[in-house]
Amino acid sequence: MCGIVGYIGYRNALPVLMDGLKRLEYRGYDSAGVAYINGNGIEIKKTKGRIEDLSRILPLPAPDAKIGVGHTRWATHGAPSDRNAHPHACGGVVVVHNGIIENYRELRSRLASEGHQFASDTDTEVIPRLISSYMKGGLPLEDSIKKAVSDLRGSYALGIIGQDCPGNLYAVRNGSPLIIGVGQDEYFFASDIPAFLQFTKKFIFLEDGQMCVMSGRQARLEQLGPAVPSKTKLPDAGTEKTEPAGSPRVVEVDWTPEMAEKEGYDYFMLKEIYEQPRTVRETMREWIENPAAMLDSLGLTSKTVLGLRRLHIAACGTSYHAALVAKYIIEALAHLPVDVEIASEFRHREQLIEKNNLFISITQSGETADTLAAQREASKKGAFTLTICNVVGSTASREADSVLYTRAGPEIGVASTKAFTAQLAALCLISIVLGMKRGRLIAAEAETLTSQLKKMPSLIEKALACDKQTMDIASKIKGSRSMLYLGRGINYPIALEGALKLKEISYIHAEGYPAGEMKHGPIALIDSGMPVVVVAPVNNLFEKTLSNIEEVKARGGRVIVITDEPPGLRAMADEVIEVPSAHPALSPFLNVIPLQLLAFWSGVLNGNDVDKPRNLAKSVTVE
Ligand code: AGP
Repeated sequence: MCGIVGYIGYRNALPVLMDGLKRLEYRGYDSAGVAYINGNGIEIKKTKGRIEDLSRILPLPAPDAKIGVGHTRWATHGAPSDRNAHPHACGGVVVVHNGIIENYRELRSRLASEGHQFASDTDTEVIPRLISSYMKGGLPLEDSIKKAVSDLRGSYALGIIGQDCPGNLYAVRNGSPLIIGVGQDEYFFASDIPAFLQFTKKFIFLEDGQMCVMSGRQARLEQLGPAVPSKTKLPDAGTEKTEPAGSPRVVEVDWTPEMAEKEGYDYFMLKEIYEQPRTVRETMREWIENPAAMLDSLGLTSKTVLGLRRLHIAACGTSYHAALVAKYIIEALAHLPVDVEIASEFRHREQLIEKNNLFISITQSGETADTLAAQREASKKGAFTLTICNVVGSTASREADSVLYTRAGPEIGVASTKAFTAQLAALCLISIVLGMKRGRLIAAEAETLTSQLKKMPSLIEKALACDKQTMDIASKIKGSRSMLYLGRGINYPIALEGALKLKEISYIHAEGYPAGEMKHGPIALIDSGMPVVVVAPVNNLFEKTLSNIEEVKARGGRVIVITDEPPGLRAMADEVIEVPSAHPALSPFLNVIPLQLLAFWSGVLNGNDVDKPRNLAKSVTVE
């Protein structure tokens, strides 16, 4: 996944592009580049490394350019290098690209046979060469772009400028996210909203198959491929007054630039961990007082809900762990069988989906390729598709039959934290509503649950008090080769989530396991000093979990326990992290907090770039 940006307007383009790239660096950071048009024609600066390395090779003072494009890369074809960095150019045409051109080999050989000599190993380079080739055949730039795009197969968000048309900025979307920022006599394009929030809150969300042609004063949409109209209605801010009638819908987002800034924290990840009381509250705000009203807004009639026979949930990574938590809650409250599957597995097998099934995708970014594919498969099979998503206007939110937005704001840290607890909040609301509508949850029980749910933000605030303790524990586990995370019941997915967080941030191997399953193999791993994290809230499984702790201690393991009942455990465990007590169905909100913090501090103490861990990207928009 990469980040692309573009600008045309009255400002000097280079500083605007660089600022936008910095805000998208979480999308990929192995190489970067910019191109702009000034008095000397098109200039391209690009390098292996990060945005910071790019800024070192830019001319000072910034040249006077009013149009340009930029790119920060997460390599898919061609190793990170100067030559493979974007932009790529040919014949006065310059392109930045996010996505994968699946037929690039065929196109490369076709172009090579026409005499093209490729300067990189990327799939992207075929695009400027195709455009230039059509222009040589006599087509103007815009028509050459349309012809070239018709040759492409795969996913692409493109930004294009041409030496011959310095007054136009082109953006093309197909399968990779691309939004248009609408300013006053200026336009922007970007892979994600945070890039240009400081300039505008008004955006056009391009659909697949669309091209936007921007001049300093107008944006025009062209439909290049088959339209894939948004099924769900975007919040409508009406059309821009300067736009002619029938212009694209402009959406005003309610994010602020500060939300996409660190605001005094050293890392976005720590800021986002601490934002969770607010983001859980924001996610529940609209429905917590009257959950039953939520179904109507989701387009789920009582008849549909009563007729439901099975619910399928597909997701990836942390979102998959939220789906596993939801299984326990929905089955308990609504007595509805729930199949949860990793999206990349779901999409490639014969799914047994019938018409009276509900399919839910869970995705923070709304752009994860595997999750989108799973959702499309379910839709093809006739299921009603609902997505729980954090990004307005993202692909998942526009292709699903219905969307329930989490209100976590932009999640910049690559490790998902606040989006996870926001997903839990949304899933709890859905579980309560399904239980009520299916006559399985009486009003009094629903009231108890919603009142407990309302307490979560303040209880999460209390759970954050373990921050310093997790930092101390992180220093004790530093250098560990491997760790086990154990949990039972609804906290087994929390053990999985804790292990994923540790892996992706500290690079220490960790494995989440059902505590009851440890004796069927993983116990062989435990030797003296091996850290084992055990999620042990006081509930119907507490006694059994105590036995697992004993089993670990008997083999010399070091036990770090997360619990709401520390006295009973202080004698047994090496470290006891206390979290507040909560309704058993809601304990995951609190048990995950120390695990997020433990991973964060382990990453910091290991000297890692916690917001941009190696090899990872914020949203995996490629398969
Ligand atoms: C979580 O910390 C990881 N960054 C990753 O597993 C992530 O949850 C996964 O890629 C799914 O992303 P999505 O929620 O945007 O679909």
